[in-house]
Amino acid sequence: MERKAIYPGSFDPITNGHIDIIQRGKKIFDSIIVGVLDNPKKSPFFSTEERVELIRQVFANDRAVEVTSFSGLLVDFAHQNKVKIVIRGLRAISDFEYEFQMALMNRKLAGDIEILFMMPSLKYSFLSSNLVREAFQLGGCIKGLVPPLVEEALKNKLSNSKRKRR
Ligand code: PNS
Repeated sequence: MERKAIYPGSFDPITNGHIDIIQRGKKIFDSIIVGVLDNPKKSPFFSTEERVELIRQVFANDRAVEVTSFSGLLVDFAHQNKVKIVIRGLRAISDFEYEFQMALMNRKLAGDIEILFMMPSLKYSFLSSNLVREAFQLGGCIKGLVPPLVEEALKNKLSNSKRKRR
């Protein structure tokens, strides 16, 4: 039987830290389903379709990585895909409290789903999509923090939004 795990998140946008976790997940599982949260209450920088497309492009040559969006409960998404394991990245102790609460809530909602925490490489332990976006929007260099195609998408998005404001 194929061993599959779900790696859920906002991925606004995907960073090299997320990619690091997916590569580590692939050492344990045959395939990873990257689940991009479609939350109508939030207004993300990249639309759900754009976030999915960017991750698909990053893993274009990797048949072990499937990318799809989901809305509603994560545990329902896991059940729909017949997957019992959810991977979450833990960067630092500061992540722990939120992740712990979320894991136990998910366990309350569906006791058959296990949450597996994985640590990224130390060099990505400070990295988040929010910081990447903020640094980029303020003119900072984000080389090495996101794949080149994501940097290009950030550039295009920023110049389009500047053009719209003019
Ligand atoms: O990348 P993020 O924003 O930290 O990912 C958070 C995510 C998508 C994993 C979380 O918000 C989630 O699972 N949302 C789906 C709604 C849900 O299941 N909520 C109950 C769990 S506490």
